[in-house]
Amino acid sequence: MARRKAASSCWRGEPSTSSAVMPVISLPLLLLATLMMATCATGDDDLPNLALRQATYASSVNWTWEVSTYLYPGYAVDGVTEYPSPLHASTLSLFHSEASDPTPWISVDLGAVALVKRVVIINRRDCCQDRLRNAELRIGNVSITNAAGGGDTRNITGNPLVWQQDAGTYINASATIPFDTPKVGRWVTLQIKQPTLQITEIQVFGYYAASAGQQRLYIRCNSSGRRRPR
Ligand SMILES: *[C@@H]1O[C@H](CO)[C@@H](O)[C@H](O)[C@H]1NC(C)=O
Ligand SMILES: *[C@@H]1O[C@H](CO)[C@@H](O)[C@H](O)[C@H]1NC(C)=O
Ligand SMILES: *[C@@H]1O[C@H](CO)[C@@H](O)[C@H](O)[C@H]1NC(C)=O
Ligand SMILES: *[C@@H]1O[C@H](CO)[C@@H](O)[C@H](O)[C@H]1NC(C)=O
Ligand SMILES: *[C@@H]1O[C@H](CO)[C@@H](O)[C@H](O)[C@H]1NC(C)=O
Repeated sequence: MARRKAASSCWRGEPSTSSAVMPVISLPLLLLATLMMATCATGDDDLPNLALRQATYASSVNWTWEVSTYLYPGYAVDGVTEYPSPLHASTLSLFHSEASDPTPWISVDLGAVALVKRVVIINRRDCCQDRLRNAELRIGNVSITNAAGGGDTRNITGNPLVWQQDAGTYINASATIPFDTPKVGRWVTLQIKQPTLQITEIQVFGYYAASAGQQRLYIRCNSSGRRRPR
C-alpha cells in the first residue's frame, strides 16, 4: 500500500522539540502543540483498520489438505499479510471458500456504523491470484452472516455496491479501493461471481460514525508540511 508521507512531515522534530522546551513554554502553547500533534496523526493515511480482528463470516469454508484444517474467514482479518509459500501448516493466514460454492463471499462486521475511506484487499500470496476476479464489494447496514442454514447470501444486495471488478482482470497482489466520499455502514462484504474466493486480508480504513463530529475538527497534514481542515 502506497502511503503518502503525510504524518511524517507533521511529526518531524516535534516530540523532541516539545520535551526540550516544555519547562519554558506557556500552557496554552503547550496545549496547542499537543492538539496539533494529536490531530496531525489522524489524517486519512493514519486511519485505523476497523476490520482488524472483527467478527467475520463466509458463505463456505474450505478444508485444505495441505494444512489439514479449515481456512476460516477470521484469517482474513488477523493482521497477518505475509506467510511462507507453498502452503503448509504454518500458513494459516488466508481465507479460502469451498470449491463447490458458486458465488462465495466474506463479510466483516465492523461492530458499529463506520465511515469507510479505503478498503485494501490482499490476494492469496502463494498461488492462484487469477481466481480473484469478478468481484463485488458492498458496504451497508444489512447484516450478512452465515447464521441459520445457508447464511445471508440472499441479502447481499441489500447493501450498496461500492466497487466492482472487471470480469477479465484480477488482483495480482493487492488492491486499494479509495472512497473520496466515505461509504457509510457496518457490514463490508466481498463476493466473487465465480467459485473459489481466497484472500489473505481485507482491511477497512475509516472511523466510526460516533466519532465523526470530532473527526471533522481534526487537521490533516500533507507532505508539504502544511495543515488544512478536512
Ligand atoms: C480446498 O483448498 C485446497 C487448496 O487450495 C484445494 O486443493 C482443494 O481442492 C479445496 N477443496 C475444496 C473442497 O474446495
Ligand atoms: C447506515 O446507517 C447510517 C445511520 O446509522 C446511515 O447514515 C447510512 O446512510 C446507512 N448506510 C446505508 C448504506 O444505508
Ligand atoms: C435477510 O433474508 C431473510 C430471508 O429472506 C429475511 O427474512 C430478512 O428479513 C433479510 N434481512 C434483511 C435485513 O434484509
Ligand atoms: C496482473 O498480472 C497479469 C499477468 O502478468 C497482467 O497482465 C496484468 O496487467 C496485471 N494486473 C495488474 C492490475 O497489475
Ligand atoms: C498540501 O496542502 C496544501 C494546502 O492545502 C496544498 O496547496 C498542497 O498542494 C498540498 N500538497 C500535497 C503534496 O498534497
